[in-house]
Amino acid sequence: MSETAIRFAGATVRYAGADRAAIDGVTFDVAAGETVVLLGPSGCGKSTLLRTVNRLVALDAGRVEFYGSDVATLDAVELRRHIGYAIQAVGLFAHMTVAQNVAVVPELLGWERDAVRTRVDELLELVRLDPVRYRNRRPRALSGGEAQRVGVARALAAKPRALLMDEPFGAVDALVRAELQRELLRIVRELKTTTLFVTHDVAEGLRLADRIVVMRDGGIEQIAAPDDLLERPATAYVHDLLHAGDLPRRA
Ligand SMILES: Nc1ncnc2c1ncn2[C@@H]1O[C@H](COP(=O)(O)OP(=O)(O)OP(=O)(O)O)[C@@H](O)[C@H]1O
Ligand SMILES: [Mg+2]
Repeated sequence: MSETAIRFAGATVRYAGADRAAIDGVTFDVAAGETVVLLGPSGCGKSTLLRTVNRLVALDAGRVEFYGSDVATLDAVELRRHIGYAIQAVGLFAHMTVAQNVAVVPELLGWERDAVRTRVDELLELVRLDPVRYRNRRPRALSGGEAQRVGVARALAAKPRALLMDEPFGAVDALVRAELQRELLRIVRELKTTTLFVTHDVAEGLRLADRIVVMRDGGIEQIAAPDDLLERPATAYVHDLLHAGDLPRRA
């Protein structure tokens, strides 16, 4: 049995003024080293569930554990230093260079200057951006796909114990997206980083996931490995979701 990295136990969030819970009694475990994809239509609660892990959203009921500790009992800032977070909007700091953006968390953690510099180059190479060409650029001098790679490099910078990725490739075209997916797969397999990945792109989910959590209206419809999900969708909803748009194919 492998170690449990993230445990959701009855996780429930009700935003102020909302008539129904954004996530409602969500329960499942993510094993250390596993890549779990949250899949489902807009508004089903994917981002909310992800953000309960690094405490950007607080629970109204239930609990979320990170390596055995209830996240509500941990220091939020400290917790976030051990969890890489990448989002669609990237959120690079415009006034900093690429290298400074990637170095933010290692510097907060007090790494030696040489260790930070080495790590930045290593990560830029990992996401296939030549450090010599890119390290001193500002975000405005990057394409959308390059900026998202820097966002992923930054999320990985301090060797986090888990990665939360909320449609990190949403802003790039299909070709670049496929390349970034391959790179991310290679990176998380190489580093064996526990990853929770949000997408509403079915093909992307099938390609990246060890297991897929299909969400519906704040709850879980089915949890299964990609092949099982395709072969044995538990409900018509899952079937229809998988077959919306192009027929999905595993890479
Ligand atoms: N800060 C907030 N305040 C109030 N309601 C919110 C807030 N954030 C999200 N919601 C609502 O909670 C529900 C779940 O939202 P969430 O952002 O988690 O969905 P999602 O699955 O990530 O959707 P998308 O694919 O569009 O990003 C939606 O009904 C949304 O309108
Ligand atoms: Mg979202």
